[in-house]
Amino acid sequence: MPQPYPLFTYTIMSLSLTELSSPLVNNEITIRPMRVEDLASVHQIDCLSFSLPWPANAFRYELIENPHSRLWVAEVEGCDGVGIVVGAIVVWLVVDEAHIATLAVHPNYRHRGIGTQLLHTALRECACEGMRSATLEVRAGNLEAQALYQRFGFEVVGRRRAYYQDNHEDAIIMTLSQLEAG
Ligand SMILES: CC(C)(COP(=O)(O)OP(=O)(O)OC[C@H]1O[C@@H](n2cnc3c(N)ncnc32)[C@H](O)[C@@H]1OP(=O)(O)O)[C@@H](O)C(=O)NCCC(=O)NCCS
Repeated sequence: MPQPYPLFTYTIMSLSLTELSSPLVNNEITIRPMRVEDLASVHQIDCLSFSLPWPANAFRYELIENPHSRLWVAEVEGCDGVGIVVGAIVVWLVVDEAHIATLAVHPNYRHRGIGTQLLHTALRECACEGMRSATLEVRAGNLEAQALYQRFGFEVVGRRRAYYQDNHEDAIIMTLSQLEAG
């Protein structure tokens, strides 16, 4: 596991402002718990990221009604100084296992380490809550996401045949067997 970063604020070290395709005032990303006012942005990112996005009210349910859900967003500062939500992660706490329910970064903000930082924060916080392993399903063809998970130590432990309804793609099951706090 990567070393923990201080608090919830991270800095993209390797990007200069001129390399960014979307306007950022500085190069800081804040990872923080999701709030109700984030829901519209999170739903939009979900729709841009998945061929089978969650229903519009699903994130609201997870945020407000599901006591076993933990939700974070990634926020950057726009030109006007107002925060822009550019990514989100939802994790279900199942006994002592953290199940990554969804992770997405806005297409305009990918490849800047935001997905890594969302996952890192979620795993660290879940470990602090007593989770001892983590698991997820990912499309067999989603090699980018699989590479991200592998960097955290997730390993392929199984496959669900024709799991996804839209194209009957297989799901790869990946597990991080030893989730440790710190
Ligand atoms: C998978 C996903 C969340 C990754 O988000 P991301 O913010 O692009 O992830 P990261 O930037 O942390 O890492 C992705 C790549 O960017 C690279 N990267 C990270 N920081 C970087 C930086 N500062 N400069 C250049 N590249 C960088 C990483 O090395 C990584 O590259 P690699 O996979 O070729 O090694 C995103 O692609 C996404 O939302 N996809 C659609 C939804 C999805 O598939 N979700 C997962 C479902 S299981």
